[in-house]
Amino acid sequence: MAIQYEHIKTDKQTGARLGRVHTPHGSFDTPTFMPVGTLATVKTMAPEELKEMGANIILSNTYHLWLRPGEDIIEEAGGLHNFMNWDGSILTDSGGFQVFSLSKLRDIKEEGVHFRNHINGEKLFLSPEKAMNIQNALGSDIMMAFDECPPYPASFDYMKKSVERTSRWAERCLDAHKRPHDQGLFGIVQGGEYEELRRQSAQDLASLDFPGYAIGGLSVGEPKDVMNRVLDFTTPLLPEDKPRYLMGVGSPDSLIDGAIRGVDMFDCVLPTRIARNGTCMTSQGRLVVRNAKFARDFRPIDEACNCHTCRNYSRAYIRHLVKANETFGFRLTTYHNLYFLLNLMEQVREAIRQDRLGDFREEFFEQYGFNKP
Ligand code: GUN
Ligand code: ZN
Repeated sequence: MAIQYEHIKTDKQTGARLGRVHTPHGSFDTPTFMPVGTLATVKTMAPEELKEMGANIILSNTYHLWLRPGEDIIEEAGGLHNFMNWDGSILTDSGGFQVFSLSKLRDIKEEGVHFRNHINGEKLFLSPEKAMNIQNALGSDIMMAFDECPPYPASFDYMKKSVERTSRWAERCLDAHKRPHDQGLFGIVQGGEYEELRRQSAQDLASLDFPGYAIGGLSVGEPKDVMNRVLDFTTPLLPEDKPRYLMGVGSPDSLIDGAIRGVDMFDCVLPTRIARNGTCMTSQGRLVVRNAKFARDFRPIDEACNCHTCRNYSRAYIRHLVKANETFGFRLTTYHNLYFLLNLMEQVREAIRQDRLGDFREEFFEQYGFNKP
């Protein structure tokens, strides 16, 4: 098996899991956050910088790399790790979600999805087999099954049909996967907000014995209490000896609330995307560095942060760069936001070690401003 989950301990206050996932490109401690590098780059960051800030697994996208430069070129380069000079672990999403979120015109059939290229409108087709072929060529450590991520809200009847198709697709993914010895394929549990369908989906996938399981179809516009309720009844349905990955979630409060419910892995474009319009995550909540009140503020973005940005540059300087559209400004905010989330996850792991994640949540939420009216 390419992927192994080592359970280290369970937090006595919350039931959160401390663990370690082993991949062909090293190990990472969980719960963890994975920076997103859609087009084989975490926008504005060098792989050396990601290493320095403590990232050891990043995410990339099958759909985008298939369209450009094409998986054949990446395979010829010796795989995605070689192509982008990243020797840590890589997880690739299957393209399912991207087709549903980027393409307005799509036609879902049993064989796969017909849709149009979001760049030039050309007709395209993606299927479980195609998604596996591309990810086998990319050589990611963790591949994702090709699934359907229905919108929120969706009717029970639609969701039931969708879950059943996603289960059939998952089986086809396993059959088409050519490199199980050095690439782990994760199944994706769907079912929206419906407990019965989440159970059905989890049971279908667990019977196929994937080396890891994702929870999909969340962070698609539902309120936070819906996400937490779905996690409350879904994570207990998943095998305890495999990693659990909550897809597309990256706000600090949701990372903590997900870890408390037994999630091990998260990814989201949030920290990198908001960095590029000048918004920073700090221990006191969000800071919009473009704001006029920072024009003469020579303090760091976050006085409690030890990152390269905060040790060397001021709010006033970063505000100036961001407002002038200078690339370096976006590099500084991106570095800080990623460091902030990676450091938050290290604090979460330390709290689990000390059996105090419940207390940590209270302290963090208080400071971040979540408990304010
Ligand atoms: N990213 C965020 N949510 C999802 C999902 O439900 N499926 C897939 N494949 N990717 C996602
Ligand atoms: Zn910082």
